[in-house]
Amino acid sequence: MQRYFTGEIVSRLEASKILAVVVIDDPQNAVPVARALLDGGISVMELAFRTERSLEALRQIRRGVPEMYVGAGTLLRPDQVEAAREAGAFFGVSPGLSEKVVQKALDLQFPFAPGLMTPSEIEKALGFGCRTVKLFPAEAAGGIGYMKAVWAPYKHLNLRFLPLGGLNINNAAGYMREPSVLAIGGSWIAPAALIQDKKWETIRENARAAAALKEA
Ligand code: 3PG
Repeated sequence: MQRYFTGEIVSRLEASKILAVVVIDDPQNAVPVARALLDGGISVMELAFRTERSLEALRQIRRGVPEMYVGAGTLLRPDQVEAAREAGAFFGVSPGLSEKVVQKALDLQFPFAPGLMTPSEIEKALGFGCRTVKLFPAEAAGGIGYMKAVWAPYKHLNLRFLPLGGLNINNAAGYMREPSVLAIGGSWIAPAALIQDKKWETIRENARAAAALKEA
């Protein structure tokens, strides 16, 4: 049985330590964004399925930037899990824990990390066999202090977090140093406004600064 995040996805996230969350309205921007992130040193991205053209953007990235390890985010329905997988997503993520969505990912053996915030949700995720989960929204939930407290009872089960929500260049390094964290993520590296304005150089610099946090 697929244990969600195992094998390549874990090693890619451990190496990258950063997951760039990106929302793309115009698929023409997909390849330049992925290329800018990669040039800046970020090789894992979550393309959030929040626009009509997300699927097309995902296909463009797989075709045009094959070195990018791209996953699909904001997967709220089982049919989106199927579509993302067919379009070439390497993994899926959601902001919350929908049993139908997690079950679909399990049925398709598609690496998937549900989002959650509370001990009860963690136990539900563990019940499905998940060991890597998205902690969302990490900062609003209480930040690093909260993350440490909520991890303590599940550490022995090898639970790992992907904290997202409210992270930025100033607070991300602290999360990264936590042993519970597989990788951190955020939209600050390639925010929608920079993508709309086609500021590829700025995105590359943001990626470079974020990637440098690993060494900090
Ligand atoms: C997500 O989808 O994971 C979040 O939107 C990322 O949160 P952020 O925008 O606060 O970085």
